[in-house]
Amino acid sequence: MFANKLAGRYACIGFAGVVRIGGILMEITGLIDEVRKQVKEWRRQGLTVGLVPTMGYLHEGHKSLIDRAVAENDRVVVSDFVNPIQFGVNEDLDAYPRDIEADKRLCRQAGADLIFHPEPEEMYAPDFSTYVEMQKVSEGLCGKTRPTHFKGVCTVVCKLFHIVMPDRAYFGQKDAQQLAVIRRMVRDLDMDIQIVGCPIIREADGLAKSSRNTYLNEEERRAALVLSRAVFHGEEMMKNGERDADTILSQMRKIIEAEPLARIDYVEMTDADSIKPLARAQGRVLTAMAVYIGTTRLIDNFIMEV
Ligand code: PAF
Repeated sequence: MFANKLAGRYACIGFAGVVRIGGILMEITGLIDEVRKQVKEWRRQGLTVGLVPTMGYLHEGHKSLIDRAVAENDRVVVSDFVNPIQFGVNEDLDAYPRDIEADKRLCRQAGADLIFHPEPEEMYAPDFSTYVEMQKVSEGLCGKTRPTHFKGVCTVVCKLFHIVMPDRAYFGQKDAQQLAVIRRMVRDLDMDIQIVGCPIIREADGLAKSSRNTYLNEEERRAALVLSRAVFHGEEMMKNGERDADTILSQMRKIIEAEPLARIDYVEMTDADSIKPLARAQGRVLTAMAVYIGTTRLIDNFIMEV
């Protein structure tokens, strides 16, 4: 269905079509209208729909979100879109890794039903002028270094929610502030969508999975382990009863500062929902960090209820 319509309308979007593997149909389109038509048809059949928003270059972390979405919904849409408006002027928009063929394989294996892979022009009209901007939750942590980032995230996620109208949407806890921001947007703007947060997936040696890990050379890849080492140490301190933020954070910083290739952007303790800084661990506590390894900015965190 998509392939025929697309041939006439958007021949330039070369990736659109239907992929059949082992009897399972998975469709891919770059068109908003086609997503809407498909989702409407599923709704007509009384099926539930899950959405996994991604920027592509999918790895095991994304797969865990898709697996969960497949387990909890009748149909699953994966959006695969490097969203230009969430990148700052000097950030890595052009360098951001892309591999749609590998993404298709992973989605197919995980049992997704549809990939939405639009061109930027499909998402943003030349005179696009409406943004979702959030105060407070988006201002601390990553919001300090990336002041326009969450405006771009909220806007694209809001658009994706309107396009797909899912019952549930899946986000990784690795981007813990993003998860808090999305939950707040959904609450504040009365969006009838359940937000499902999923655990961080790590490499065998502890490094949190991230598409940006591909930027690291061998030496940097080794140096990047200071993030998870600091996370595990902070977690251990809290498990052992330490509650003072300064005590925990200063030990975590010490671990990171011992690595010459690492430069701390922030290491902070906040409430996991409001992202307000905490002097003492209490409630649902987020301990989060952003660290440059060479020129690559990596994030990691842990959340603990105390
Ligand atoms: O987490 C991401 O990959 C992106 O920020 C998201 C949620 C897909 C929005 O572009």
